[in-house]
Amino acid sequence: MVAEHAEQITARFYPRMFAERPDLLRVFNEANQATGEQSKALAASVVAYAVQLIDPEAPSFAHVMTRIAHKHVSLGIRPEQYTVVGHHLLAAVAEVLGDAVTPQVAEAWAEVYWLFATQLIAEEARLYHQADVDPLHPLRSYRVVRRIEEADGVVSLVLVPADGEALPVVLPGQYVSVFVDLPDGGRQPRQYTVSSTASETRLQITVSRLTGVGGNPDGRVSSYLCDVVRPGDLLDVSTPCGDVILESSSRPLLLISAGAGITTVLPVVEHLARTQPQRPVVVAHADRTQHDHALRATVLDAGRQLDDFDSHVWYETVDVDDHQSHEGLMDLSDVPLPDDVQVFTCGPLPFMRHVRAGLLARGVPASEIRYEVFGPDLWATQS
Ligand SMILES: Cc1cc2nc3c(=O)[nH]c(=O)nc-3n(C[C@H](O)[C@H](O)[C@H](O)COP(=O)(O)OP(=O)(O)OC[C@H]3O[C@@H](n4cnc5c(N)ncnc54)[C@H](O)[C@@H]3O)c2cc1C
Ligand code: HEM
Repeated sequence: MVAEHAEQITARFYPRMFAERPDLLRVFNEANQATGEQSKALAASVVAYAVQLIDPEAPSFAHVMTRIAHKHVSLGIRPEQYTVVGHHLLAAVAEVLGDAVTPQVAEAWAEVYWLFATQLIAEEARLYHQADVDPLHPLRSYRVVRRIEEADGVVSLVLVPADGEALPVVLPGQYVSVFVDLPDGGRQPRQYTVSSTASETRLQITVSRLTGVGGNPDGRVSSYLCDVVRPGDLLDVSTPCGDVILESSSRPLLLISAGAGITTVLPVVEHLARTQPQRPVVVAHADRTQHDHALRATVLDAGRQLDDFDSHVWYETVDVDDHQSHEGLMDLSDVPLPDDVQVFTCGPLPFMRHVRAGLLARGVPASEIRYEVFGPDLWATQS
């Protein structure tokens, strides 16, 4: 019953919680609230957690737990906030399910919630400790020192810690949460992949300006970062987080991206150019046109430092003088796939579904296809 009503429950939960704790509106992504994506992700994760407690055949839950813990740490979530969330979530269950929530049922769900919460709190404590971050002060101030116009509507911001101290360790593929104070007085966080790890003193993010379609508003934070932020400005930035990272191995890599997803490719290619140039790498990227394709030259420059590197590009519309790029949707059927290939993919969910289906059909095991979602992960609990 809880599974069937999960989205109704989370749809009640958030307004309840924000009514009592409006300060939390500055931590939650308001667009994910408006579109309901965060409600769905929360509901799906709680149901999947409960299922794996009672069903020994249920798929492993570890990756869902890790993803949530990394996201929470990037947002500075603290143990005492679990009491607030638990109170409103369990009250929302009772409101929606009414008489079905007998005292026994209420007690059982409270137990499920607190088991999940304590595992998350423990993992988050471990991550804060590992990163040497005080959860009471999870953000550092960074000064923007450079803007680079990478493509139509795509800007890289180069940041240095305002305190002059060293950069934190960034693993290739990790992101930071950037909190911005918006002109209307609101404050909002968004995650941005650390798009280059080439410098030991500067952190780079690359932001694609989101244009609203079908009457929906333009992206608030990406518009602000692309249009308003200038060198000299300060931004509040979290410690690098994220578990979709390159592990040490010598296996060949296929890095697949679309649009802003290319920000996950460059740091990996740069890292390998520095540390493991003999590792074979193929990159495959899809974009609207070559004018939208950010970081292309930088990825190719880094790729040239590898012994075995290949690049494939698909555009919805190919320029007349471009004789190398493919036109249309990405089709990997002609790209050679070594038996032990490891795949990383990042782009919109429909794009990743499409490439994943093609790879599975060619015999790549699902376990070898890692993905990063640029929003709440509505996929993790389904697979
Ligand atoms: C791990 C991770 C890494 C990421 N890395 C990058 C990166 O390297 N580069 C990058 O550019 N992005 C990245 N992102 C995405 C980034 O965090 C933001 O989501 C993105 O910039 C959009 O934020 P925004 O504030 O501009 O848009 P938002 O204001 O959040 O809007 C998002 C969408 O919701 C729609 N929307 C908003 N309000 C409503 C409403 N009321 N009704 C209907 N629709 C609505 C908007 O039209 C828009 O399409 C990453 C995300 C994650 C989770
Ligand atoms: C057991 C308790 C909790 C569960 C199961 C849970 C689950 C989740 C899930 C599934 C996500 C989405 C992760 C993704 O990006 O894929 C998420 C994100 C988030 N969580 Fe939690 N969470 C819990 C507790 C908390 C608490 C205590 C807070 C603090 C108030 C919190 C704040 C957030 C925020 C701000 C986000 C990002 C939202 C967004 O970007 O839209 N969570 N959580």
